[in-house]
Amino acid sequence: MRILLLGAPGAGKGTQAQKLMADRGLPQISTGDLLRGAVAAGSALGRKAKAAMDAGELVSDEIVLGIIRERLAEGDTANGFILDGFPRNVAQAEALEDVLGEVGQPLDAAILLDVDFDILMKRLTGRRTCSKTGKLLNIHFSPQAELDECIANGGELLQRPDDNEQTIANRLEVYRSQTEPLIEYYRERDKLRVIDAEGEVAAVHKRLLEAVDD
Ligand code: AP5
Repeated sequence: MRILLLGAPGAGKGTQAQKLMADRGLPQISTGDLLRGAVAAGSALGRKAKAAMDAGELVSDEIVLGIIRERLAEGDTANGFILDGFPRNVAQAEALEDVLGEVGQPLDAAILLDVDFDILMKRLTGRRTCSKTGKLLNIHFSPQAELDECIANGGELLQRPDDNEQTIANRLEVYRSQTEPLIEYYRERDKLRVIDAEGEVAAVHKRLLEAVDD
């Protein structure tokens, strides 16, 4: 199954991709995570990407397409993958179509996680990542027991540098202007499936599994 998760910042792409990876044994390919890894490693690519990420702008297509081509060529993608946060504009979507077309493995579905814009700010300012497990948590929405478990196991609740109100506002604007046109792009190609991504994480996941198996 080759799918991509589409949705605004904070829609729950990473949360749902982690769960889907566990359920279906498919690798999650998050360009955000790959870019943050490059920034943390201090590589030349990471240094180039950092300014755009800090500002909530898109990193250049050239950089992103380079890392995605490399990642898709790895062996664990042979039975499928979950793309999370890629593509982000029409040029990236066309490039993805070309790459997958070359190997005769077209995308099965683009699943839009649909969330009202009003609740995204709260999800994003409250987001924390457990340093020990990488689990995505939220100080407003996660059960206290899950937050405590991270600390009890020696982890820290880390906040992403781009999860501040000013950068989030720009990320939402960039989503509207550059990424939202992909909804139409995939609808025209008959690949689009839309799920309601509001409510409990488990309920959203159930809807996602139904859409994946549709
Ligand atoms: P990226 O890391 O992709 O960030 P994003 O798209 O802004 O998405 P987020 O990770 O913020 O949100 P999400 O939908 O994954 O939500 P999550 O599951 O974490 O990109 C970061 C930057 O990298 C970009 O700004 C850009 O600079 C660059 N970049 C990345 N890809 C690029 C590309 N292809 N091209 C160019 N540049 C690129 O959930 C959010 C919070 O909500 C969490 O705390 C979670 O616990 C909580 N939550 C989730 N679901 C629920 C629920 N149902 N109820 C309550 N809380 C929930």
